[in-house]
Amino acid sequence: EEAEPLRIIISGAPASGKGTQCELITQKYGLVHISAGDLLRAEIDLGSENGRLAKEYMERGELVPDEILVKMVKEALSKQNGWLLDGYPRSSSQAKSLERFGFKPDLFILLEVPEEILVERVIGRRLDPVTGKIYHLKYSLPETQEIAARLTQRFDDTEEKVKLRLKTHNRNVRDVLSMYRDITVKIKGDCSKEEVFGQIDKALTKLVQQKKISSSNP
Ligand code: AP5
Repeated sequence: EEAEPLRIIISGAPASGKGTQCELITQKYGLVHISAGDLLRAEIDLGSENGRLAKEYMERGELVPDEILVKMVKEALSKQNGWLLDGYPRSSSQAKSLERFGFKPDLFILLEVPEEILVERVIGRRLDPVTGKIYHLKYSLPETQEIAARLTQRFDDTEEKVKLRLKTHNRNVRDVLSMYRDITVKIKGDCSKEEVFGQIDKALTKLVQQKKISSSNP
């Protein structure tokens, strides 16, 4: 019997660990990871007009306008049955458009990390352009010299820019949370990535169980 697909949203401040946890969640649960930030960076790399516009907002740590992003996310979600949506929605208008398109999440994961930790996480973050894997110069070192030599940094990963991103996050988070109150699980995000995943894994295991029960008692 085919398992019911899971539809998960993961949210949290900049550098709270969304991308890192998505790597671990997809490994165990086989969900398709759809990251709003990654979609936008791919658009920038294409060199399109939308990409050029989006980058202006990202440089300032502001939300990219709905006209650019809403359609991109809709197209990405439409191709999938189950999904793990990262960094979206970040406003009530985005949440409402998801609802309008019929994308209904089962669970809303909120990673909670104290602000003073976020800046250090951002500044030490490095990315492997070949595998897309996320590293940190102190907390998550590359496995080999070869990987270490090719690591890159994101254009918005400076202390100044993360503070702007954090302001935007703080301005919007309450609106989004209020729309998902019934399905929100708050995760303590200031421990090791394995410990953070342990908490998420527990919540997902429970969700899978509940889905099994409700699909056998329609
Ligand atoms: P986006 O790319 O989503 O950036 P963000 O929200 O700022 O989040 P990050 O990707 O920086 O962090 P993360 O939570 O994934 O942390 P990570 O796992 O890498 O968005 C970028 C921009 O795009 C926005 O500013 C906005 O302009 C635009 N945008 C995006 N979505 C939008 C939307 N919906 N609407 C409008 N505009 C939108 O971890 C960070 C570091 O910490 C890494 O180095 C990692 O190794 C380390 N780390 C992770 N977990 C731990 C741990 N437990 N202990 C120690 N270190 C850890």
